[in-house]
Amino acid sequence: MAEIPRLKGLDHTLPLMREGYPYLMNRCRQLKSEIFRFRFFGQSAICLHGEEGAALFYDESKFIRKGVTPRRLKETLLGKGGIHGLDDEAHRHRKAAFMSLMTPEHIQWLVVLMSAQWKAYCLKWTTAGQVNLFQEVQEILCRAICTWSGVPLEKQEVKQRTQDFAAMIEAFGGVGLRNVRGRAARKRTEKWLAKLITDIRAEKFKVNEDTAAYTMAWHRDLKGELLDLEVAVAELINVLRPTVAIAYYVVFIALALHQHPEYRKRLQAQEDKLTEFFSQEVRRYYPFAPFMGARTRQDFTWKEYRFPMGQLVLLDIYGTNHDAMLWPQPESFWPERYHHWPGSPFDFIPQGGGDHFNGHRCPGEWITIEAMKLGLNVLVNGITYEVPPQDLSFSLARMPTYPKSGFIIQNVKLWE
Ligand code: HEM
Repeated sequence: MAEIPRLKGLDHTLPLMREGYPYLMNRCRQLKSEIFRFRFFGQSAICLHGEEGAALFYDESKFIRKGVTPRRLKETLLGKGGIHGLDDEAHRHRKAAFMSLMTPEHIQWLVVLMSAQWKAYCLKWTTAGQVNLFQEVQEILCRAICTWSGVPLEKQEVKQRTQDFAAMIEAFGGVGLRNVRGRAARKRTEKWLAKLITDIRAEKFKVNEDTAAYTMAWHRDLKGELLDLEVAVAELINVLRPTVAIAYYVVFIALALHQHPEYRKRLQAQEDKLTEFFSQEVRRYYPFAPFMGARTRQDFTWKEYRFPMGQLVLLDIYGTNHDAMLWPQPESFWPERYHHWPGSPFDFIPQGGGDHFNGHRCPGEWITIEAMKLGLNVLVNGITYEVPPQDLSFSLARMPTYPKSGFIIQNVKLWE
């Protein structure tokens, strides 16, 4: 039996918060190991990094999610009783409800709705002077996903609802004010959507059967019972909030275009697969989800290392996407690399690894990719714009992160 390398020190939470996304990867390099023990929020934790580590992490015979989500994330980002903390049959049954929304036709319909919003906003920007792309794209996505999900959104509430989804996302790595704002935003959003689900169930509000609002309102658990109102609301939010979060990636697309202008002409010429590869490289290169947690289901041995039952294990998402063994020159932004990517479910894991239907891999991954391709296409083929001087740096110590200015554009014109 081999000893899992151990990081020196009493607790590593603060150093992790200070260093941010690359912390786990840097410790792996330092210890020359893809696995190490450390202490996180006063608990013993094991970090897994890399493709083999991800394959282990997504082996459901070895790990569970029950009781893993910390309270502060339930109160801001995720809510209570949602899919993130389910296991086995209960998880697969709930996941099927999410995946039923992810058919190619449904996703195409969402792209049509997003496209219409982009058109309206681009037109507005032509007379708007300076535009904060981050805030505007959040609104575009919020409007489109609410329509797609069967959630009515009055014109005058767009700003507040969008800001509330944004505040929940911002809370995930934040303490202090960001956390307080996230909690308040979650409470407001829950109240709003609890009324909607209640009205749908009472048949006071009619909504199409193929929408997320209908699906979550009428989803029945394995015992045939409707979800608790609180849980149905959490699951509806689990569709709306992360779709608004795609704005982080869209802003990183704008940044990548700005920093690598040589791709613009080739994207305009619609070079084969480049739009997809550019979007994929944005998901790999730029940070979003830092790591995921699970607990061991029972004692087991992996590669001579003993894992005790109930052990907290964190999968290094950011570090795996930046691993030099998997990604040659990982710190270069190079979309062409996907010509040679073999497509493993465990090496490219910005939205989790493994299988969408049977495991915890993000059900919104296909939506994310399509929304990014659309955003990229608008920025390249839909409008021209100037990027005035501004602070475009982003901190790897902030979770989640985005360019400090939010990416300001001006003098927006529509392509003829
Ligand atoms: C799960 C990232 C967009 C809904 C996840 C996970 C990650 C992730 C890392 C955890 C995987 C795991 O537990 O192992 C992202 C990122 C997004 C995004 C970076 C884009 C910015 C979306 C969208 C939706 C969505 C658009 C919904 C339409 C969910 C749900 C889960 C999840 C419901 C829980 C899945 C489960 O536990 O089975 N996502 N996601 N996400 N995501 Fe996303």
